[in-house]
Amino acid sequence: MQPTLPLTLPTPFTISHIEPENYRTVTIVLDGQIDAYPGQFIMAWLPRFDEKPFSLVSANPITLMVTAVGPFSRLVHALQPGDRLWLRGPFGRGYHRPATQTRLALVGGGYGVAPLLWLAQTTLPEVDSITAVIGARTAADLLYADRFQQLAAQHSHLTLLTTTEDGSAGITGRVTDALLPLATTHALDGIYACGPHGMLAALQTLGQQYQIPSQLSWEAYMRCGIGICGACEHDGQVLCLDGPVLAHAA
Ligand SMILES: Cc1cc2nc3c(=O)[nH]c(=O)nc-3n(C[C@H](O)[C@H](O)[C@H](O)COP(=O)(O)OP(=O)(O)OC[C@H]3O[C@@H](n4cnc5c(N)ncnc54)[C@H](O)[C@@H]3O)c2cc1C
Ligand code: FES
Repeated sequence: MQPTLPLTLPTPFTISHIEPENYRTVTIVLDGQIDAYPGQFIMAWLPRFDEKPFSLVSANPITLMVTAVGPFSRLVHALQPGDRLWLRGPFGRGYHRPATQTRLALVGGGYGVAPLLWLAQTTLPEVDSITAVIGARTAADLLYADRFQQLAAQHSHLTLLTTTEDGSAGITGRVTDALLPLATTHALDGIYACGPHGMLAALQTLGQQYQIPSQLSWEAYMRCGIGICGACEHDGQVLCLDGPVLAHAA
């Protein structure tokens, strides 16, 4: 194991093992740890190619979930145990739960599920209830539902709901369809989410409608990761420093 470091320069880590999650997503476990908390991200570098941000699935050991959608992520998928991946970080502002919020919804769309399992694990001992809502287009696109199910088997105050747009698993529809009954019955104190912009915007609107504050992890194109280049500007904020998790009042 390498020491815990805040990494200002890309530092190589060796891949310990790789777990397939679905037809285009893997979980990659590296041989090191990092001092971070849920919602923060690292920059992963493949020398002479590119560098991209990824949420931390776990800090100890460093674990990433990578969905193969383009050139960089496909190259990461070609790596094998024993190969190296270079990391900088951790960066950004993650999730911060106010003590007053004890009934939470954790909502993940697509690979947005990545930081939420760790958030659930660290938050479960401190809250009254967590409803995890995992949404995807189809059953084959759902991620980490099995891992959340295992956690729910150990913690009776964790409930898992899944949604698919085509109805092939769970509730037919979107994550907001699963959340609406909880919102209308005032069963939630906070919404913690990560996923595509459209999903986050819908959750922000739902939160405002039912007076539920939200903490949403917004994705942006990132280059420096440290607030210099401006690539990740969003509504006057740089998401690599001020986010990716932004707190939205009810
Ligand atoms: C803070 C932050 C955290 C991130 N965390 C993760 C993570 O945990 N896991 C992860 O896989 N990616 C994550 N990403 C996205 C990641 O940084 C890259 O954008 C992604 O790997 C695609 O890079 P690429 O070069 O392979 O493809 P690109 O050429 O950048 O993208 C190819 C196409 O796919 C679209 N696209 C990008 N990502 C996805 C996706 N996951 N699903 C569907 N379409 C997509 C793009 O809009 C584009 O049209 C995160 C991004 C940010 C900003
Ligand atoms: S990535 Fe450069 S300012 Fe955020």
